Amino acid sequence: MMTKHILAPSILAADFTKLGEEIRAAESAGADWIHVDVMDGRFVPNISMGQFIVEACRRVTQLPLDVHLMIEKPEEHLETFAKAGASRLTVHVETCPHIHRTLQFIKSLGCEAGVTLNPGTAVGAIEPVLGEADLVLVMSVNPGFGGQEFIPESYARITEIRKKLDVLGSSAWLEVDGGVSEETIAQLKEAGATAFVAGTSVFKHPQGIEAGVRALRNHLK
Ligand code: DX5
Ligand code: ZN
Repeated sequence: MMTKHILAPSILAADFTKLGEEIRAAESAGADWIHVDVMDGRFVPNISMGQFIVEACRRVTQLPLDVHLMIEKPEEHLETFAKAGASRLTVHVETCPHIHRTLQFIKSLGCEAGVTLNPGTAVGAIEPVLGEADLVLVMSVNPGFGGQEFIPESYARITEIRKKLDVLGSSAWLEVDGGVSEETIAQLKEAGATAFVAGTSVFKHPQGIEAGVRALRNHLK
């Protein structure tokens, strides 16, 4: 069976004065999901956006909303984000002492459950819950900012997690986030990633959003 490869533009890099327009442009260019980066100024340095933006996104696109929660105590906000229209909710293992329960709770809300880990967190930290996850997100930058340089050790981490998912027979998405570009995407696919978050390389592409999506897509064929 052919594996589907997902392109998930991150609106963190969009022009917020015309967010609806930019999301529509990404959708018509062939984006699969819209990635929404929620930051609380505590777990990560920046404060970005919350449930009201998720609600607004829900009104402008039919695409799944891939919500990445870079927040402390995410379990206190999961219901709110599910109600706002999130399709999948991804939490950081570093913020979840009860990660197994948290993933189950996300599923009980009718969303797909994602788990992610920072570049400095050992892969073993997510291993016990790989079977519970609908999505595993590998951070390939330290979260908190868009436009950072890709951390090359991420390739090996993706390969390692790919193997573990295959052993389990898991069909979870293996997503990568941070510094995904024309230079890195082909090797990330090779390593076994199936979903690719891209902020800067889509929304800040010099030739526009459509060109950004097309350029990345070319490498996913
Ligand atoms: C980083 C965010 C990313 C970010 C990616 O904290 O989780 O989703 O928007 O941005 P780029 O693609 O510019 O590295
Ligand atoms: Zn993200």
